[in-house]
Amino acid sequence: MVDVLLGLQWGDEGKGKIVDFLAANYDIIARFQGGPNAGHTLYVNGNKIVLHTIPSGVFQKHCLNLIGNGVVIDPVTLSREIEAILPLQNDLLERLFISHRAQLIIPTHRVLDAASEAAKGKEKIGSTLKGIGPAYMDKTGRNGLRVGDILSPDFKKKYEKLKQKHIDILKQFEEVIDYSEWECAFMDAVEKMRKLKIINSEYWLHEQLKAGKKVLAEGAQGSMLDIDFGTYPYVTSSNTIAAGVCNGLGIAPSRIGEVIGITKAYCTRVGSGPFPTELLDETGDALRKAGAEFGATTGRPRRCGWIDLVALRYACMLSGVTQLIMTKADVMDSFDPVFLATAYEIDGKHTCEFPYDINDVKVIPVYEQFQGWSKPIGTCKTYDELPSVFKDYCKFIEQYLETKIAYVSNGTGRDQLIAV
Ligand code: GDP
Ligand code: IMO
Ligand code: MG
Repeated sequence: MVDVLLGLQWGDEGKGKIVDFLAANYDIIARFQGGPNAGHTLYVNGNKIVLHTIPSGVFQKHCLNLIGNGVVIDPVTLSREIEAILPLQNDLLERLFISHRAQLIIPTHRVLDAASEAAKGKEKIGSTLKGIGPAYMDKTGRNGLRVGDILSPDFKKKYEKLKQKHIDILKQFEEVIDYSEWECAFMDAVEKMRKLKIINSEYWLHEQLKAGKKVLAEGAQGSMLDIDFGTYPYVTSSNTIAAGVCNGLGIAPSRIGEVIGITKAYCTRVGSGPFPTELLDETGDALRKAGAEFGATTGRPRRCGWIDLVALRYACMLSGVTQLIMTKADVMDSFDPVFLATAYEIDGKHTCEFPYDINDVKVIPVYEQFQGWSKPIGTCKTYDELPSVFKDYCKFIEQYLETKIAYVSNGTGRDQLIAV
């Protein structure tokens, strides 16, 4: 079976930490979408590691790790990640597999990303500028380069053709970044990438599953950034919901088992776009400080607010979430009272549905108020030790979402995870 783990909010829910923990029970961890826009943070033996392209199973010795066909790969970022991890995991390259169908991000994709954002002015998406949108555009436009192409004797020709297409598009923009240095780094990284295990991953996965191996598909970004169901156009360019696993790995829907959805005890968003429960006051600042809410990929401050059950229920519905994991519960230790949005007021009417036109309507969240737990919970080891008001908070969320919370995460460490 293939279990799925994904973010239910706007990303950064703590997927990296949770995958690193759960990987102990799986044989293979597979990324199915996104690219180096992701930043998944892990703490292993006190070392902080941020993974962008490599699956978060690499620190469990027995785990194989697959970068699936649905991912867009920047060889430079990948090569840097490998260099950072190799001293800690010297068998990394034996356990890392890449689909030959995964798409490549080339330097001019990043230039296009920057030019497109600059041209949008005040309406910019707030992209991580890693070239994600342009790379997926080339994929669906049927112009993209795939990882398998780097093994072809015609690679340079194919690369130049795509680059020229980008240069032609860039003529319409006023300012264009000089990418000549990036190009050198890109070619070096491609050279290194040729030596990696580039495989026919859909067949490989199929064989592994036939042999009874357990696979966990690791999502990037979050459900509200999904290209179809997120707060379009303020989204990323891939399907971040469970459906993305099937086309991002070549897995049949009937193979999907558990769908594990991750949510913070509150909510954050980085980049532009609607965020109904955002706190633009000192409470929001306090959440950012307590939760160290700064982007793992770009370092940008994350916008903070209360947990939004309307958006979460929508995300659970879209992916058929079978169990929840709540992270960063410890961050809310000193907040009293705490709030949960249970409905939206739009034009004087209450709704529990996430609106299609959320960018164009004024949404006033309707809140349920709870007493804060006002007690540090970071050292709690069992569910029984957790304050009863915190458990009430969890029960309310479970009831609203009609889904069980399987774990509560109460710190950055691998061991700070409490089974419910
Ligand atoms: P991801 O993109 O979903 O993997 O999440 P990020 O790594 O971008 O951001 C999550 C941040 O929260 C990281 O810095 C984690 O170390 C941290 N984190 C994860 N779980 C917890 C938790 O339960 N408590 C606290 N305080 N921090 C956490
Ligand atoms: P992880 O996997 C949070 C956001 C960007 C921007 C929008 C589009 O760490 O949770 P893109 O670079 O894809 O063109 O950006 O999506 N975004 C993320 N926000 N976590 C992420 O990944 C994100 N990946 C992209 O900030 O608003
Ligand atoms: Mg992140």
